Amino acid sequence: MHLLVNATGVNPWAYQQNVDKIHSLEPMLPLIEIVAIFIPLLVHAIYGIYIANAGVKFNTTKYNYGGNLRYTLQRWTSWFLLLFIAYHIGTLHKWGLALFGVEGYPKFNPANAAYETTVTAVRVPYTNMGLNVAVSILYLLGTWSAVFHWANGLWTSAIAWGLTVTRNSQQRWGHFCFGFGIVMMLVGTTAWAAFAFGDPNFETPTMPAARAQEVHAQASSGKETLHPNPAGVNPGTQMAPMRVPTTAPMNPPPARPGRH
Ligand code: HEM
Repeated sequence: MHLLVNATGVNPWAYQQNVDKIHSLEPMLPLIEIVAIFIPLLVHAIYGIYIANAGVKFNTTKYNYGGNLRYTLQRWTSWFLLLFIAYHIGTLHKWGLALFGVEGYPKFNPANAAYETTVTAVRVPYTNMGLNVAVSILYLLGTWSAVFHWANGLWTSAIAWGLTVTRNSQQRWGHFCFGFGIVMMLVGTTAWAAFAFGDPNFETPTMPAARAQEVHAQASSGKETLHPNPAGVNPGTQMAPMRVPTTAPMNPPPARPGRH
């Protein structure tokens, strides 16, 4: 779902509208996030660490089967995902570093600046330290790791839970998981490319100004967010103007809150 929404980043206006829809779930959004995302993620991470430590030792050097390679990759991607998700939530989510008042990293601003701030986070963070390309690559590897981990995990968990017992059923389920993985790789890579090659100055105001103020205040826990892309920080990332839908945005705000 997350990658599908992000893939709509190929159309910045559609992406902003999807983010608006998600944030229109306020004030219930934090509860939904806790129950549907953070608790399952935490349980999975704790259980995963337990399995990884209790699991049999790698035997990929002795038995060089495709299955062994997948087994190894499943574990490598899990450790990598722990790091990626920690960085990702730490920087983009209001419950990350923002909660501790830490500054100096690209923050996500859902209020009329979802597209620009996501591009800023994926494409141009820490440009002055020369780390922007590294962060873009981190996002690409994080996305590919998540898709591999998911598709391969679906296949192996069906065996572990005794859902696919026969060789035939394992093969059929394997084909499905492989196809699913390919489709999600395409979706995830599209999502990444939409931001990794996007324009951090492309504005997409779709929300009435008053509502945007409210969403922004909630998202940054009452703290003001600096302009995500201060002038001069990111020279040379301007792209050719993107296609803008012919229909005018509803109630375009007179001013853009949260931007200086
Ligand atoms: C192209 C890649 C990605 C982009 C551009 C992206 C973008 C974002 C953005 C903008 C947010 C903040 C949403 C908000 O606060 O409303 C977010 C949150 C989050 N992302 Fe990603 N993301 C990407 C890949 C991933 C991957 C691969 C994972 C998991 C492995 C992931 C897991 C999460 C989680 C758990 C949250 C916090 C919950 C939420 O707000 O939905 N993201 N992401």
